[in-house]
Amino acid sequence: MASEGLKVIIAGAGIGGLVLALMLEKASIDYIVLERASEFKPLGSSISLTAQVLRVFDQLGILEEVQAVSLPMSSLTYFKQDLTLMASWDATIATDRYGYTSLMFPRPDLMQVLLRQVPPHKIAWGKRVLSTMQNTNGVMVRCASGETFDGDILVGADGAYSAVRQSMYKNLEMKGIHVPPTDTAPLHFDQYCILGVTSDISEEYPVLKENDTQLNVVIADKKPYNVYCIPLKGGRVGWAICGKLLQEQFHDQENFRFSDYGAEAIEEIRDKIDDIPVPIGGSIGQLMDKTEDISRIMLEDRYAGRTVLIGDACHKLIPAGGQGAIQTILDCVCLANLLKELPSTEPADITAVFKRYYDIRAPHAKKAVAASSQLSNLMSSKGLLADMMRGFILKSPRWIINKSFDSIYGGRPILNYLEQIDLKGTVKDSSKPATLIDKPSKPSMSAAAL
Ligand SMILES: Cc1cc2nc3c(=O)[nH]c(=O)nc-3n(C[C@H](O)[C@H](O)[C@H](O)COP(=O)(O)OP(=O)(O)OC[C@H]3O[C@@H](n4cnc5c(N)ncnc54)[C@H](O)[C@@H]3O)c2cc1C
Ligand SMILES: *[C@@H]1O[C@H](CO)[C@@H](O)[C@H](O)[C@H]1NC(C)=O
Ligand SMILES: *[C@@H]1O[C@H](CO)[C@@H](O)[C@H](O)[C@H]1NC(C)=O
Repeated sequence: MASEGLKVIIAGAGIGGLVLALMLEKASIDYIVLERASEFKPLGSSISLTAQVLRVFDQLGILEEVQAVSLPMSSLTYFKQDLTLMASWDATIATDRYGYTSLMFPRPDLMQVLLRQVPPHKIAWGKRVLSTMQNTNGVMVRCASGETFDGDILVGADGAYSAVRQSMYKNLEMKGIHVPPTDTAPLHFDQYCILGVTSDISEEYPVLKENDTQLNVVIADKKPYNVYCIPLKGGRVGWAICGKLLQEQFHDQENFRFSDYGAEAIEEIRDKIDDIPVPIGGSIGQLMDKTEDISRIMLEDRYAGRTVLIGDACHKLIPAGGQGAIQTILDCVCLANLLKELPSTEPADITAVFKRYYDIRAPHAKKAVAASSQLSNLMSSKGLLADMMRGFILKSPRWIINKSFDSIYGGRPILNYLEQIDLKGTVKDSSKPATLIDKPSKPSMSAAAL
């Protein structure tokens, strides 16, 4: 196997970079992770994972550690600003249908679980990738520190404002290869969010002592933003405010990605946001007051993947859709499976792997991006027509709801090169097998369905 002589450079130690590192570790493929941040910072709000990726976590032996920092998710619920119920979907059907209960946890907690899995000497902190160069012998990465790193393959796992993506485009243009304008145009940002996780506030909010959680969305009245409020393990609450309102505050800095948000700037934003009530009691302002590290992000919902990019570097998703981290981990499963089969490090073989990766992943990622933004748009649209549409969807017969859930959550791929684990749940795995040669897919029946 040529995968033994292969050296992979992963740019970015976010969720995608670390999950891929873990998978390559188990595949005995050599790699190094280059991360811009000088050390791990506990930034972000909550993230949920579903059976789509919990099955491969199970196979990797990290499911229990993730469960230990998570609460099981019971529903996705939308409220009007007066906290009357707008719509609610039962998330518990996942256990029966797909074999794993959906989990919700703070992003920093998942990061810590992953960091424990990857040998520390495989992650180089404080290495911001600036540019990349490729030739027939391999790839060279130059960092802001002045250092360079050589490898056979570069994986851009460096998030929504991927430097690897920019550099790839530049190299393509220099070779006279035309990149479609939508892929290089400055990002058009659709959503602006500030988000964070509170400290343990269960004494003031007894509802936080419950042992499951809901993804609660409050649609603000006549305001261009929505509020997310998600109880988390340990009496904490993940929250976010997302919408167009914050645009002004974000406008000045064109190049920031994620960063801490200073106390002063938060005051300024708080003044502009109505103190929207949240379903756990109290208001969003009170949750902000209980939060130490607040982050801000910009989100856009455009697909742009042309080279070997994983995660947000090629598809950015709305946080509430919950599919951002999931699609990223699915990218990792597919890429790791294909790299393990790589026949040689010759350019033609590498190109074949990348092409196969895109053929398999692009349609799924596009569908997930579309579904995520459609749901978000539908739920936050104001007006009579939107009310009617929502009513129509909520009154859909159960079998239609099950079927549309299955098309999103039914695919549960695992790694070909590790010991196989049984498929759990009543619904069959709809993922496309990630192999270099198009094998006819075996009908995989779940134990429960037999
Ligand atoms: C701090 C932070 C907080 C987040 N909070 C949430 C949240 O609350 N809810 C949610 O749904 N999603 C959140 N996300 C996004 C979520 O992690 C992604 O949607 C998803 O996990 C895809 O992960 P990724 O690996 O593609 O990108 P990310 O998880 O964004 O990771 C990208 C990594 O690459 C690093 N990087 C960037 N540029 C360079 C460079 N030039 N060279 C080297 N390294 C670089 C970044 O520092 C980061 O560690 C957050 C992301 C970050 C970075
Ligand atoms: C959650 O708590 C209830 C009682 O409040 C208990 O019956 C149930 O078993 C608990 N579930 C879990 C998963 O711990
Ligand atoms: C929908 O899924 C649930 C959970 O698996 C199941 O109990 C129910 O029978 C399904 N309904 C239909 C109509 O298929």
